[in-house]
Amino acid sequence: MASFESLYSENALNMKKSVIRELLKLTQKPDIISFAGGLPAPETFPVEDLRAAADVVFVKHATKALQYGTTEGDPDLKDELIKFEARQGVKIGQDHLLVVSASQQALDIVAKVFIDPGDYIIGGHPTYLGTIQAIQSYRGRVLGIPFSKADDGFDMDELERRYASALRDGKRIKFIYVIPDFQNPTGICWSVEKRKALLEFSYRTGLPLVEDSPYREIRFLGKTLPSIFQLDQEGENRGNVLNFKTFSKILAPGTRMGWVMANPDIISKFVVAKQAMDLCTNVFAQKWIAEYLKTGKIYSVIEHTCGIYRDKRNYMTELLEQHMPKRPDISWTKPEGGLFLWIRLPEGIDTDKMLLKAIERKVAYVGGSSFYFDEPEHNTMRINFSYSSLEQIEEGVKRLARVVAEELEGR
Ligand SMILES: Cc1ncc(COP(=O)(O)O)c(C=O)c1O
Repeated sequence: MASFESLYSENALNMKKSVIRELLKLTQKPDIISFAGGLPAPETFPVEDLRAAADVVFVKHATKALQYGTTEGDPDLKDELIKFEARQGVKIGQDHLLVVSASQQALDIVAKVFIDPGDYIIGGHPTYLGTIQAIQSYRGRVLGIPFSKADDGFDMDELERRYASALRDGKRIKFIYVIPDFQNPTGICWSVEKRKALLEFSYRTGLPLVEDSPYREIRFLGKTLPSIFQLDQEGENRGNVLNFKTFSKILAPGTRMGWVMANPDIISKFVVAKQAMDLCTNVFAQKWIAEYLKTGKIYSVIEHTCGIYRDKRNYMTELLEQHMPKRPDISWTKPEGGLFLWIRLPEGIDTDKMLLKAIERKVAYVGGSSFYFDEPEHNTMRINFSYSSLEQIEEGVKRLARVVAEELEGR
């Protein structure tokens, strides 16, 4: 077979395969209980109502839905998005909005627009793997900031220290990237104080602040906190924040539909970058989601989804409490939303190596090292609670706890 390896661009050579996607293939055997992926529960998809909305598109707007659309996005869908956001207190106009092929595309666009080879972004240590991949594909790097002991956002002293040291070393930093609501992979939710402090840091440094919010509406415990985008809007309104949203976790990821909210200048730049990628987001799908949103049923779907995830998360943490070895250096986050929790094991345990044993025991997770741009912490793991049934959660946690206990005994 012909090999074009020697012709690949520097950018392509710098792209890394997603360990998670490779692993998912391994863990898809039916007898393995997988906490590795990040899939929503299929029982939350409102199949019949989505089918009815697709029928409306064919009956009412078939030719428009089958035609090219504008890069900015379908105005009908944008109207519905404006109403959806207004219910959460976010006031935006059409020119503050760009419809994208889900938030992963927004991540690629923001990297494309800001990153030259060697540039840095400021991000979590750990952070979302798909963002690391997007940054790497433009040969960018991540200046990783650890989270505070209270799990309420970055360690802000470390942020100041690492930022100052990066500037002294001549590093070019282009933007800040955070997932304040139930971060992937840790489940951490930022406090209002830390959100405000990061916004102030963005104002002071002049760096754009990318707020990635796929899990924002998936809050099943506690009170919703203002997004950083909102804090800017309601405060100095300087337009520093770019907020990425998606239907992947609140409706269905197969829709591949998301939206960016930002100041109109940034939106225009993003539009040009997106044009070269796909001209416009799938027009049929935009009309389809617009028709679905008009029914107003999404709010009860979100409520129902949150209820299911609350039960699964509570069950998983109860079982971890019961079955995991009891030691002060074994802990896990107790997220109030999202899809994941993050387990810390004693120093010296390598969860990547342990995964092979876990797979033998027919349970899977993602080793935490995948979520660090550099200097990974090997004694961590991400486990997903949204996808498995309660029965699978029970059996899977028992198997996982046994693997951890054996690993500790074997040391
Ligand atoms: C933090 C974060 N951002 C973005 C995405 C991409 O989501 P999508 O492209 O489906 O909207 C994910 C997916 O899991 C995620 O966890």
